[in-house]
Order: sequence, then structure tokens, then C-alpha cells
Amino acid sequence: MRSSLIKPGVLLAAIFMLVSNAFAQKDQSGADPAFLHNLATKWQAHWIQIGYPEDSLNHPSQYFSKQFDSSGKVKQARLFITSRGLYEAQINGKRVGNAYLTPGWTSYNKRIAYQAWDVTDLVKKGDNILQVTLGDGWYRGALAFENRRNYFGTKLSLICQLEVTYTNGRKEIIISDDSWKSGEGPIRQSSINNGETIDHNRVMQIDKPVRIADDYAGKLVPTESYPATKHEVFKPIKVITTPKGEKVLDFGQNLVGWVMLKVKGKQGDTITIQHAEVLDKAGNFYIANLRGAQAKSTYILKGQGEEFFEPHFTYFGFRYIQIKGLRADPDPEDFTAVAIYADMQPSGTFECSNPMLNKLQHNIQWGQKGNFLYVPTDCPQRDERLGWTGDAQVFAHTAAYNFDVQYFFKQWMVDVALDQRKDGAVTFVVPDILDGAAGSAGWGDVSTVVPWTMYQVYGDKEILQQQYESMKKWVGFMTQNSTNDLWNKGDHFGDWLSYHSPTDDGSDAITDKYEIAQCFYAYSTQLVINAARVLGKTEDVNYYSALLNRIKDAYRKEYTTYSGRILSNTQSSYVLALQFDMLLEKDRPTAASYLVSKIRAYDHHLTTGFLGTPYLCHVLSRFGHTKEAYRLLLQDTYPSWLYPIKMGATTIWERWDGIKPDGSFQTTAMNSFNHYAYGAIGDWMYQHIAGIQAGSPGYKQVIIRPDLGGGLTWCKASYICPQGKIIVSWKIADGKFTLDATIPKGSAAVVYLPDAEGKNIQQKNISAGNYHFSN
Ligand code: BGC
Repeated sequence: MRSSLIKPGVLLAAIFMLVSNAFAQKDQSGADPAFLHNLATKWQAHWIQIGYPEDSLNHPSQYFSKQFDSSGKVKQARLFITSRGLYEAQINGKRVGNAYLTPGWTSYNKRIAYQAWDVTDLVKKGDNILQVTLGDGWYRGALAFENRRNYFGTKLSLICQLEVTYTNGRKEIIISDDSWKSGEGPIRQSSINNGETIDHNRVMQIDKPVRIADDYAGKLVPTESYPATKHEVFKPIKVITTPKGEKVLDFGQNLVGWVMLKVKGKQGDTITIQHAEVLDKAGNFYIANLRGAQAKSTYILKGQGEEFFEPHFTYFGFRYIQIKGLRADPDPEDFTAVAIYADMQPSGTFECSNPMLNKLQHNIQWGQKGNFLYVPTDCPQRDERLGWTGDAQVFAHTAAYNFDVQYFFKQWMVDVALDQRKDGAVTFVVPDILDGAAGSAGWGDVSTVVPWTMYQVYGDKEILQQQYESMKKWVGFMTQNSTNDLWNKGDHFGDWLSYHSPTDDGSDAITDKYEIAQCFYAYSTQLVINAARVLGKTEDVNYYSALLNRIKDAYRKEYTTYSGRILSNTQSSYVLALQFDMLLEKDRPTAASYLVSKIRAYDHHLTTGFLGTPYLCHVLSRFGHTKEAYRLLLQDTYPSWLYPIKMGATTIWERWDGIKPDGSFQTTAMNSFNHYAYGAIGDWMYQHIAGIQAGSPGYKQVIIRPDLGGGLTWCKASYICPQGKIIVSWKIADGKFTLDATIPKGSAAVVYLPDAEGKNIQQKNISAGNYHFSN
């Protein structure tokens, strides 16, 4: 019903997906018209929980219901609802909204988001029934490593209130209280890591009392972000019988969501669907990289005609499924995979003359889709799926090019600040479920980098205001842990997963962790200065500027030689020093040439990890080595961005060599095939290939500056900024460079036009409108 209302942006994205992936059918979503963004209420309802002894082994889902009478003609009805655990609500048998895994994940011990739904169409005159199902979810289900249970609490509970306004102006509020009933039904167990079991033989029986639950000590807040909804659907492209004899379906795309199944069988037949991202070298189903996550749906049939199954309170990262328990060979028609992710509107498109780069863009976007589900997660499949701060920090700018992530990050950043320790250390993951583990360089900097990036992209000062204290606290933490302005304490992840040579003689690609820490200390301090300037905090500007000088001095004394060589002498060490202006102006070009020689020493390969990679090509471009940047980008042997694509990747891999050239796996322990961090190159592609850059916060001033290279002959890209859509399309033909640009009303642009050789750059200042240039 509601899903037929597809917004134009979503439709466009769907069309784009159709073009770029023949197997994607159609984007199922459409921002849910029933979802009322950020709408607050005054709570009168009570938290309620089941009033019967729980099966504490299996934790079956809990069902709640309330019958109520609606006496007049309904003008407007709104349901405000949330839970400790995950909820799904129905009114008169119809689903409320099209969001899944609600209320989403926040730092539950401090705040829980609630949703407001417009349910005017669902409430009828006379007898009505409001029903809510709860699952363990992130609140108390098997979560992260070691399938930790009960992290936020041991009992599920629900709070909701239905606010009905009648046409005669009368108002009525139905609240959760002890008049509700509770009971059990078909969902027999569910957890984020392990999957879900549904038994169609279990009828819903909601006839037991409820109890008023303990009050919630945290804050209930309206939802600012975008709930997760259904998007693209996929049909299997292949039915495989593996060498081991397993029945496997291939959906052609590594995605996050689940499979919807139609099935016929006998009563008691048990069907299991196991999920995997890859097959192994021999072509067998491979799940070792999921570690402790069982990632399995189990369905028990009633045996009366066609039955439909899909899970409710779990999700999977997969491209392949293994199916067991069918009486016949699987019929692809019966299986539909659906992608589930935050309902963010697409904001950017990118396409160029090199198909491998287009595939890279596709993989970056799918990495984002799969990992933007309420919280920006590292990966969506194994027993982890956590809001790793470092990953989010490196990817934030690319994320904003692809989708509107303003509120996604705004909401999550509140939790970053709430989970931040008293001493200012930012936790490794947010929501923090690692007991306060915190303080790594490059991870804690999420507290400064994301607010500043969001301000740059959306021109929204509010996020700077919102996060300012947290930004300062993080810098304060680094200062506290410094000696003579050198941050030389603590344990750090360093340039995570940087290159290791297969023969293990690659130790010269490892960058000293404290050297990296000093660079991020400087960067975050710079961002606090920037924010202080925007917010008019002059004293802070002075204080942090003096500190920054000392941090950089200390860095140069400790880590550089007189001529600008850096102690670690790795690609990442030069990249970070140059990106964050750690060196004296006069030494920078020499350092950039050391960087280039370090790239050549590896035969034009990168050796950078999570922290160096995002800035690598930016630094090369800035210091006049765009040619080298293109060469790296187009490199297709390990380590490189295109190597995984050559190996069949449909998302970004966690490791440069997740699958080795001989088809074997790098490791079983930590080998995700859907990890967006290295996708941070997307930002460079938009900025330097397409040439779309923000010249001022929120793109009031746009810079269009494509850097030609890599043999590319055309590029078409667009980006929806706060003023509207920017479109750039350039090509080289018959020795001529031509560029078409559209600048939205409210923005102006400076266009830099190279000739077909990339030289003789001309500069044009333009206002809103459509333009055609040639040079
Ligand atoms: C995660 C990363 C994360 C890292 C910290 C891993 O387990 O998957 O992406 O940033 O730990 O080093």
C-alpha cells in the first residue's frame, strides 16, 4: 500500500541500480509517508513487560495486544512507540510503517529513540486492536564477539501511546498500561548475530497479563535519523550444487537484509537458510569468516498450502544462501533477497569511461548501504557489526557524496558524545558495548572529523554546536596523555590492515603508531580551531592555535629529519604529515616526492591501511602528482582498489587481499567482504575525477575542477547539495575538452577548465544555471 508511493530520488536511484546491476529489480522503498521525522510527544504511557514466566533458554518473541474502541470519525491518529528490544506493531492486522528493526540502535543505557507513525488510515471506527511484537535485538540478544547477551538489560519491555483526534475535535489517548495482554506466537527465537526461528504451527496466543516494567533511567528521544526500510530486491541468478553437494543460491550481489521465502511442504518440515558472502576456492559454501554468528533462518511449516516466511528481528550480510529441508530442488522463483538499510535519500551519482571504476563506485555504494543501518557499522555479517568509530570517520565524506547522511550522523554523533568517557577518550565503538575501551588515534577523531565534515557538506552549524564540547574533550584527552606536547601514551590501532608483503618482508610499510597519533592530535586540534571560528569562540581559537603550533613542533623534532624525511618512511607517514600540514611549507614538496618514491618502490602499489588510504590520492593531487594518483587508482593487482573487483567483489573488502590470487582466503579470523573503510576513495573520485567540490560550507560556493588522467575520456556525475542538484558532465573528443555544468539556484561556482591534455587551465566564475564550456 504505502510502498507504492516512491519518491523521485529513490526511483532514480533504483533506475541507476538497474543499470549498474542487472539483477537488482526495483527499489522497494520510498521514504515512508507514515514516518513522522523527529516528532516529539509528552509521554503518559507506562513501560510494560510480559506477565508470565519466560522461556529463558530460547527467548521466544513476546506479543502484546490491546483492544480499544474508537467512537468517532478519525481525523488523525499517531502512534508513538519504542521498546527495550526491537518492536513491530500492527493495527487491525496491518503493519505500522515500513521500517524494520525499530526502534534502531542508540546507546540504550543513556537514550532510546522512539518513533512517531501516522496511523490515521489504520484506525477504524468501532473495535480496534493494537498489537506489538518484541524481539531481543541489540538490547539483550546475542551481540558482537562471543555473542554477548543482555548487554543493555535482561528484560524486554514496551512503551507506546496512540493519540487519536476525531473530526469533532475530541482527543483520545490509548497508552500501554496494565490493561494490555501478553503472550507468545510463531517467532520462537531471534538474535542479531544468529538469525531467527519461526514456527507456523504456533498460533498467536495473547491472553496473559502484563506487568508494569521498571522505569527507564535514560532519555526517550524522538527519532532524528532515518529508520531502516526495504530497498532493492534480488532474484537468484544461479542455483548451484556445490562439490560438497550443498544446495546454494547466488543472488549476484553481496547485500544486507534477508530472504523472503515462499514454500509448500508438509506440517513440521523444517527449512533452514544459512547465509554466506562468498564460496571457497573449491566452490563450496563458506561461513568461517562469520566466526560466531550463526546467521541462519529456520522455518517450520504448517503444511497447509503456500506459506510465506521472512525474519523480523535479525539481518544478514550475504550473497549466497544454502537451503536445507526442501522436498524438491529449490525453485529460484520462491526466493527473493531484499536489501534493508537506512532510508537515506541518494545524493550522488558517478559514472565514467572506465567500467572498472564504475564497478568500484557500485561497490562503495553497496558497502554503505549494507553498513548504514541505524549505526555506521564496520561490517554486517560476522559476530561484530559494531559502530567502529575509525571506520565511520574515514568514510563519512564519501558517504555524504552518495546519500543524504546529515541526520544519520547527527543522531549517531549524540551517542558518540554520550559514550565518551569522563577523561575525554572516545570509545572504539558507539554504542559502546566494549566496556569503555577507548582512546585510539584515528578512531577517537570521529568526534571532530564527522561534525566538521557534516558542517562542510550541509552548512549546518548546529552539529558543530551539538558536538563542540565533545570535540574539545577529545583534544583534552590527547593533551592529558602527552609529554611535552607529544602524544606518546596508550594503545592504538595504527594504520589498521596496511599492506603486509606475502613473503612477510613488508615491515617497511608499517607506520609508527605514535607518529600517527601525533598527526591526528594535530588534525583534531585544527578542527576544534575551525569549529571555534565558526561558533565565534575567540578565546578557544587562540588557545588551540598555540597548542597546534606546539604539537607540530614536537612532531617535527621527534619524527622528521632536517630535509623532511619522516621516521617511519612509509606511504602513510608522508600522507598523514602532508594532509595535516605537519611539515614546514618548504619541506612539503620534498616529502611528497618521497611519497611518490615509496609508491614506485612497490611498483605503483599502495601500502596504506585504514588511516592513510583515505588521504593518499588527495595528497598526491594536492602536490601535483595526479598522474600517480590515477595510476594507483587503476592498479588492479594486490594491493589496490581494483584487485578485489578483478576477483569478483560486489562490495568493498575489509582487507586488500581478503581472497588471494590463488583463490584462498587471507584469513578466517577477520575477513569481511563488506567493510566500507577502503571505499573512502569515493570522495576523491567525486572531487577529482568528476571535479565536484564544496568551495564553502553547504556548497553555496561550488568548485568544479576535474583533474584529467588515467586515460579517462568522459565522466558524468551529480550531487544534490542543500541548494539543489549540481550536475557535471565532461568529455574529451577530437582533441577537445568539453564540460556541461548545472548549478542550482542559491549556489555559485568557479569552474576550472583544462584542455584535452589537462593543461592551460581556464577559470570561469558562474552563477546558477546550465552551462556548456569547451577548451
Ligand atoms: C573492525 C574494524 C575496526 C577494528 C579496530 C575490527 O574488528 O572490524 O573495522 O576498526 O577492529 O581496529
